[in-house]
Amino acid sequence: MGRMAQFIRTRVTIKLGLLLFGVFLLIAVALGNIVYTFFVSFYVSHVWEELTQRTESHAAVLSDYFNDSTIDHVVRMEVGANFMVVILDSDKNVLGQSDNMTSEHHDYLDMTYEKQMKFGATVEQDWDSKPFLVDQAPVFQGGKEAGTVVLFSSTTPIREAIQSLQRILLTIGLASAIIVGGILFLISRMIARPLLVMRQVTSEIAKGNYDFYLPLRGEDEVAQLAHSIHHMSREIQFYQKQRNDFLADIGHELRTPLTYLKGYSELILGHDVSNEEKQEYLTVINEQSERLQRLVQDLFDLARIDQGVFSFHWEKICLEDVLTDTLSVVESSMDAKGILIEYCPPEKKIMVKGDRQRLGQVFINILDNARYYTPEGGSVFVRYQRNAAEVIIEIEDTGPGIPKAELPFITERLYRVEKSRSKQTGGAGLGLAISSKIIEKHQGYLQIESAEGEGTTFKVNLPLVFVDQAKS
Ligand SMILES: Nc1ncnc2c1ncn2[C@@H]1O[C@H](COP(=O)(O)OP(=O)(O)OP(=O)(O)O)[C@@H](O)[C@H]1O
Ligand SMILES: [Mg+2]
Repeated sequence: MGRMAQFIRTRVTIKLGLLLFGVFLLIAVALGNIVYTFFVSFYVSHVWEELTQRTESHAAVLSDYFNDSTIDHVVRMEVGANFMVVILDSDKNVLGQSDNMTSEHHDYLDMTYEKQMKFGATVEQDWDSKPFLVDQAPVFQGGKEAGTVVLFSSTTPIREAIQSLQRILLTIGLASAIIVGGILFLISRMIARPLLVMRQVTSEIAKGNYDFYLPLRGEDEVAQLAHSIHHMSREIQFYQKQRNDFLADIGHELRTPLTYLKGYSELILGHDVSNEEKQEYLTVINEQSERLQRLVQDLFDLARIDQGVFSFHWEKICLEDVLTDTLSVVESSMDAKGILIEYCPPEKKIMVKGDRQRLGQVFINILDNARYYTPEGGSVFVRYQRNAAEVIIEIEDTGPGIPKAELPFITERLYRVEKSRSKQTGGAGLGLAISSKIIEKHQGYLQIESAEGEGTTFKVNLPLVFVDQAKS
């Protein structure tokens, strides 16, 4: 029993089939019941009506002529019919009868008078458990009761008719249950089959097997689910590939500084080196370890932003303060490369809700790129633009620009336009990835516009805050 229940619970086909079948049975039983009740009441009332009519018409005839020949006539009318008539005089003597009487008939005759006194006309109406329906009517002579007409109708034909109706209903019910059951089974299998396929497919996907066939026909929910699974498996494959690429890229990225560290430290250890040379090598080692440190820090930051554990210190800050601070940091290195910074301060004070340090990090990353990629003698412009809802900080350079095809990927981690990883200097391609994530955390977004050979403009869009969050 338990196993049966388990079987039903785990099979959607059977669950669905049983549910539909249950609904069908409910409707069928209700309909059968209606037909049955209707037929029974119609048939019985028809028989009863005939019985009472005949009783009354006999009583009427006898009231007109209460003599032997009329009695004989009435009796003969009922011989061989479904009914049996008994005519009594006022002392309950039998004046005529159309068939032989049994003790049951006599019982009813005994009751006749009492019934007539107490309840009026009817004597027996129970067709189900009694052998006859019985009706009676008084015969009047000169305003006085002179006798009684009692009419019996056997209930056997009624019961037989009802039984055969029951048999017919049952047969129809069984036959249609079998047919409907079969059809429902096929339908629910049809509905459930794609689900079963999808279950199989998803367990294959979980095992890392992406080589499967999914029926993607149709537009209903089931087909939509198939599409979603298809899409999901593509995404998983994509992310798996991305993860593998990412790991490979990090490997490359780590290799260069490590090569330097190892090479130069070996030089210092293994050879007779002058003090100047030692100084030079140590400088390289120092630079490379700094690079390594930054790389690892950036990777950590990215991972923590992704996990949502990168902490932000939210406050209402004056944007201009952040930018002037940042500019003073990069100023000297810009100067050293002969790059001119043109800064247009905003007309009004601009307040945003943000993390002073993280936003500073964003601007440093962008300005650093601008400095790094812009050739000597170039310029960098820093401007503000404002509309009702947001402020846009534009940082434009006169560098080489970024090819249009590469623009969408520039904020992806470890993505660089200059693909060569053996480059000694230059970044790992993490700066913009981190920056765009930080901007997103500020409910803003980063736009990058670039024309190859002319320069690049980075636009940091941030929502404006004029009043305290609580009041708005
Ligand atoms: N102002 C710019 N002009 C031209 N190319 C740029 C500019 N800024 C970024 N790029 C391109 O976008 C790539 C990604 O920039 P990103 O700042 O993310 O990485 P990175 O500067 O190479 O390394 P990191 O910032 O991690 O030190 C750069 O490698 C460069 O090819
Ligand atoms: Mg950078």
